[in-house]
Amino acid sequence: MWTSWWLWALVAMCAGETWREQAERIMQQTPVIDGHNDLPWQLLTKFNNQLYHQGSNLSTLASTHTNIPKLRAGFVGAQFWSAYVPCDTQNKDAVKRTLEQIDVIQRMCQEYPETFKCVTSSQDIRQAFQEGKVASLVGVEGGHSIDSSLGVLRALYHLGMRYLTLTHSCNTPWADNWLVDTGEDEPESQGLSEFGESVVREMNRLGIMIDLAHVSVATMKAALQLSSAPVIFSHSSAYQLCAHKRNVPDDVLQLVKATGSLVMVNFYTDYVSCSAQATLTQVADHLDYIKAVAGAEAVGLGGDYDGVTRLPVGLEDVSKYPDLVAELLQRNWTEAEIKGMLAENLLRVFAAVEEVSNRTQTSHKPEEKPIALDKLGDSCRTQYGYSAAPSLSLRPGALLASLAPLLLSPHLL
Ligand SMILES: *[C@@H]1O[C@H](CO)[C@@H](O)[C@H](O)[C@H]1NC(C)=O
Ligand SMILES: *[C@@H]1O[C@H](CO)[C@@H](O)[C@H](O)[C@H]1NC(C)=O
Ligand SMILES: *[C@@H]1O[C@H](CO)[C@@H](O)[C@H](O)[C@H]1NC(C)=O
Ligand SMILES: [Zn+2]
Repeated sequence: MWTSWWLWALVAMCAGETWREQAERIMQQTPVIDGHNDLPWQLLTKFNNQLYHQGSNLSTLASTHTNIPKLRAGFVGAQFWSAYVPCDTQNKDAVKRTLEQIDVIQRMCQEYPETFKCVTSSQDIRQAFQEGKVASLVGVEGGHSIDSSLGVLRALYHLGMRYLTLTHSCNTPWADNWLVDTGEDEPESQGLSEFGESVVREMNRLGIMIDLAHVSVATMKAALQLSSAPVIFSHSSAYQLCAHKRNVPDDVLQLVKATGSLVMVNFYTDYVSCSAQATLTQVADHLDYIKAVAGAEAVGLGGDYDGVTRLPVGLEDVSKYPDLVAELLQRNWTEAEIKGMLAENLLRVFAAVEEVSNRTQTSHKPEEKPIALDKLGDSCRTQYGYSAAPSLSLRPGALLASLAPLLLSPHLL
């Protein structure tokens, strides 16, 4: 161990460059695209989304894992900001709160235009890299945010949503979450219901990446099987190294490999080491493992910064990504493999999703069959649209009864 460390230190010195320097050189060209950051949630809970509030200035914000100087020090070139609203908003104000989180992301771009550039395509991300901006994209975390509505799904796409996590840590009426696999929740859709399948098809048609972090294994398999584009896990690690049901098991990693999909590794200690303590090298072990099982093309980063309370030693905030890259260089990852993990793999998946969308827009009509009324949870929502035709189709007898007066009407004869 000791001797090989010295040997490698020597090699690096001969090359005139430390691992860390080499990491920075690579990241100047190819910065990180991180799959999941919950800064918008921090802005809501700490400042009620007031960006002019004393203390919420993103240049000086100190109580979070993320601020502008840390993003710069970490060579972050693109971030999927999480528009997250908790499961207790389901059947309540989930849609309104999701809109507000998308708004606060867009306002970050407006208030800090030298730093953030809100973008919506893979090409835009490359352009932002050129301009030295942090490309900022919206990921909506939890299918409850669409309130079982294909119309809301489409509207969120128009507002910039480019991935939707099919569930958070609760079932939706159309997809099961990971707590089904721990036994804490009952399976309801056995993966995806028929309506859930129409959500996935519509996401393919629109060009929204399907995110399988937080879903049950049955939902992972159903979505991987059905999707005509590769999918992502925006913030999940390897189940084989830490047997937490939020992580991705080996048989699913095989499907990831077969479909050209992507696992963006989560840094939360509970998912890295299955304990309250973890280290940077254990995160590197997850990256090594996913690379070994699914290929270097399947590896990405989704740190979950500002969404978690415990992070590994060495990866305490968003400034630390170069140290992780230095560790992988030390583990003999090639420059191409590292660039893949940092950005190119996500850009490949995103472009494939855009291509499928471009192709299917012309051949496929939008999905429009509403979810069955009896699948919607109890709530104060109204039932417009459900009172006439759809309820008749549920009761064929009622259809006949309602047609009878028309058929018998003398005006029609
Ligand atoms: C944040 O602080 C910087 C300087 O500390 C200032 O230039 C900038 O206008 C502030 N931005 C906002 C949105 O308050
Ligand atoms: C890296 O490669 C060198 C030379 O091929 C080898 O000696 C070394 O053991 C490798 N290190 C690791 C961590 O695989
Ligand atoms: C999809 O279509 C748009 C609009 O025509 C085009 O700008 C974009 O390059 C296409 N994307 C891919 C990946 O084919
Ligand atoms: Zn999450």
